[in-house]
Amino acid sequence: MALVKISSVGIGVPPRILTNHDMEKMVDTSDQWIQERTGIKQRHIVDPGTTCSDLATEAARQAMEKAGLTPDDIELIIVATNTPDSPLPAVACLVQHKLGCKHAWGFDLAIACSGFLYAMQVGVQFVASGAHKNVIVIGVDVMSSVIDYTDRQTCIIFGDGGGACVIQPSTSEADGCFIDFLHEVDGSGGEFLCIPAGGSAHPPSKETVEQGLHFLKQDGPVVFKFATKRMPEICVRLLDRNNLTGADIDVFIPHQANLRIIKSAVERLGIPMEKVIVNIDQYGNTTAGTLPLAMDTALKEGRLKKGDLVLFAAMGAGLSAGAALMRWGY
Ligand code: COA
Repeated sequence: MALVKISSVGIGVPPRILTNHDMEKMVDTSDQWIQERTGIKQRHIVDPGTTCSDLATEAARQAMEKAGLTPDDIELIIVATNTPDSPLPAVACLVQHKLGCKHAWGFDLAIACSGFLYAMQVGVQFVASGAHKNVIVIGVDVMSSVIDYTDRQTCIIFGDGGGACVIQPSTSEADGCFIDFLHEVDGSGGEFLCIPAGGSAHPPSKETVEQGLHFLKQDGPVVFKFATKRMPEICVRLLDRNNLTGADIDVFIPHQANLRIIKSAVERLGIPMEKVIVNIDQYGNTTAGTLPLAMDTALKEGRLKKGDLVLFAAMGAGLSAGAALMRWGY
């Protein structure tokens, strides 16, 4: 199997910002509580009419241009999201059309916050097998479309946005490449983080809307415990099977769900905070969007450099978790 690298990163973030002080006017909460319990200061929220495919297309356009590609070069578009513009068509089809990628096919992949890493492994396999040379992998969510802004335990966490990467064949490890992926799901925990209605179990109806069953529901403490245990565990298993430890990692890019979850994982892994990318204060939890957004932050802050050994970690609804190791190439 050929080596596969990330060639570029782009982002799609709506300009409107909802601060913790704005949230104080919406629910019984405080800036201090939100910052202490989550690390979040603000999140970006779309204006009415801006869709998941708008953000995905902007992210993909930036990534494509940074990689020096034109729409005609793109062969495959994979979008990780749980908040598509509508159930059908797939966001990938909308992005393909909006970007004018005449030769690309594509599809969506839905596994919430783990989506970007899962989509990345799928994309990597298409490149590694030689089937495609120019693939765009996107992670994006418009969480504000499924959030109940009267549920203070949930609404303070989530934001809208995401990012995209172009992935291509690599010539050597020095050119950058993925090294390994590891994923797991535990479907017994599905009820702890879910959107109960809107699918085949409970098709949308007057009753489901009246009961708010189209909104995201979470048991915060249960998800918190899952995250603090399973996210570092899967990282350790991935590091172990590559004969590495946390001490070997140059940059750790974790899912941005809660600063306390990140700190607890980092402690377990023995990675110093100065090697950890954190931007949850700016964006909140953008679900499938957090990892490409964090890569963008790391690049803009000059904290992700050629030759760095990078560890990614994700966890989310499913319940699910994932990790990836790569050598950064630019
Ligand atoms: N503002 C003020 N108080 C709040 C609040 C808010 N926004 N949300 C909850 N509280 C209150 C609770 O009502 C509770 O009050 P009580 O003690 O009087 O009953 C108290 O704060 C503690 O609630 P608890 O739910 O135990 O807080 P917590 O420390 O677990 O923090 C979360 C809540 C949601 C921030 C935390 O559980 C979490 O981050 N969980 C993981 C969620 C997640 O990551 N989801 C996405 C996964 S990809």
